[in-house]
Amino acid sequence: MAIKQTERLDPELERVARADLKQLGNIRIDDVLSFIDRGLDNMPSYMDLFHRWETQQWAVSDLDFSPDRERWQQSTQLERDATLWSRRLFFNGEERVTATLAPFVWAAPKPEIEIFLSTQMVDEARHTVFFDRWWREVVGSDAKDLTEILAEIRPDTNEGYNTLFYDRLPSVAQRMANNPTDIDAFIEGVTIYHIVVEATLALTGQRFELEELREQGMTHHGYYQGFIAVARDESRHVNFGIKVLQEAVRDDPARFAPLIQRTLVECLPLIAGTIHPPDERYITEFGHSEDEIMDFAMNSLNKRLRAIGINLAA
Ligand SMILES: [Fe+2]
Ligand SMILES: [Fe+2]
Repeated sequence: MAIKQTERLDPELERVARADLKQLGNIRIDDVLSFIDRGLDNMPSYMDLFHRWETQQWAVSDLDFSPDRERWQQSTQLERDATLWSRRLFFNGEERVTATLAPFVWAAPKPEIEIFLSTQMVDEARHTVFFDRWWREVVGSDAKDLTEILAEIRPDTNEGYNTLFYDRLPSVAQRMANNPTDIDAFIEGVTIYHIVVEATLALTGQRFELEELREQGMTHHGYYQGFIAVARDESRHVNFGIKVLQEAVRDDPARFAPLIQRTLVECLPLIAGTIHPPDERYITEFGHSEDEIMDFAMNSLNKRLRAIGINLAA
């Protein structure tokens, strides 16, 4: 029996929404991001997002990393170092967000939210497995299990990253685990997880990396196809986060707007810290500057905040 699809998409968005892994090779990250911006004017319901998840399943085991492996063997040391710096942050980050999401499900203020967040847990686990497979098959590793490979790839150069992923995110998740009715912890958690980590940090990094891979003619690589599938998953997560915060601000602006603003002000310096590379050439090698990436991140954030109904400068 067909699942009732309430959301109506124009033909171009429908193409992005339904693309399989091969077809995703012909899709640009900006087309995927347009889902989020469309969401601002025409916000999907939580169940629309669930239905989108049902039609956007993909399997890590379907990807073919042989073109990736061939290219990796020909790449320079600087290209390898720059790529590994960025992918360590993603790989470890995906595992961190998998590990900290369960308390959000418990603390969900309504069943539709609980159901959407359960789909997100599966997504984040799949993203972690995607990086594990790429790392083992392209870069190579003797690690015997995920624990070992995560220890091997853990990013060690960056304080902003450590604070965000090893302090702010687990501590707000712990508050929800201690008291699942703590709605302030839930709203602060969604601000950190969905808006700071996913909307601002991850999707910005994904955009620059995917466009770079495209310019280099790597859209038939397993990594491009998998990573754009990851970005499409993230676009659902970000739609969800915007919706939760928009409803919170609408229901009780005096309580939630200052809470979201304060959380953002505390976390923004951590974003700048996270994208700052240990070697400047890791960014300029790929034709961008750190300022350009930060500008894109802040513009995206401001768009999302307008939809939520808060002003960072206020
Ligand atoms: Fe993810
Ligand atoms: Fe996500």
